[in-house]
Amino acid sequence: MIDTHSHIYGLEFDTDRDEVVGRAREAGVEAIFLPNINAETIQPMLQLCGQYPGYCFPMMGLHPEDVKEDFSSVLARMHEILLQTPTPYIAIGEVGLDFYWDETYREQQLEAFESQICWVRDLSLPVVIHSRNAHRELLEVMERHRSDGLTGIFHCFGGTLEEARELLSFPGFVLGIGGILTYKKSTLPEVLREVPMERVVVETDAPYLSPVPYRGKRNESAYVVYTLQRLAEVYGCTPTEMEEMTNKNVKRIFNLGN
Ligand code: NI
Repeated sequence: MIDTHSHIYGLEFDTDRDEVVGRAREAGVEAIFLPNINAETIQPMLQLCGQYPGYCFPMMGLHPEDVKEDFSSVLARMHEILLQTPTPYIAIGEVGLDFYWDETYREQQLEAFESQICWVRDLSLPVVIHSRNAHRELLEVMERHRSDGLTGIFHCFGGTLEEARELLSFPGFVLGIGGILTYKKSTLPEVLREVPMERVVVETDAPYLSPVPYRGKRNESAYVVYTLQRLAEVYGCTPTEMEEMTNKNVKRIFNLGN
């Protein structure tokens, strides 16, 4: 089982990060992928990866909610870091569009996303995409790059069947399924019944969006097991089968071999 999206390098874990990693290992999590947020999170993220080589893997990118006036210089610095060899980054992420809280930096977000999609294309890395209240705009960017053969994850998917179909029309992409799948009123189970098992992976988005039975509490990578169990129920298979399938999907998208 691989947690494809976790921010356990964050402040929320400063007092017990090693225990958090220990519990993930005990729960059967084989690897944790860490999407970056902004310029300040790079150092703690890399430190964690240095502490757990072969277990924690970093990504590079500027989160859409952290796109501000200074985004061009932040991106220039990130790009410079990205090109340093040997590059340990397994993907560009998390990047995308978020017009949920406010649209102050709408144009800047679109520009930052486009620049980072160009890194993805030029470096042949997978991309982890965050999108909220921006489905149409996201599709427009993706459409422009349809012939680039991009691969990646549409992280924290929670949309409709139509939205799932539109996103999955990009053959190199899968949906990242997190804790919301376990919520009582979630419509995701119905949607996923129409989505092939080959097109989903699991994630926590720790510290956010804890699955049941930890809903409302701080999320951590070990809890990805609850989402995986629910996903197995949805697809009518055993958790072991679901684990094998999602691992296979991760390895295909991230080009990891076996
Ligand atoms: Ni995230």
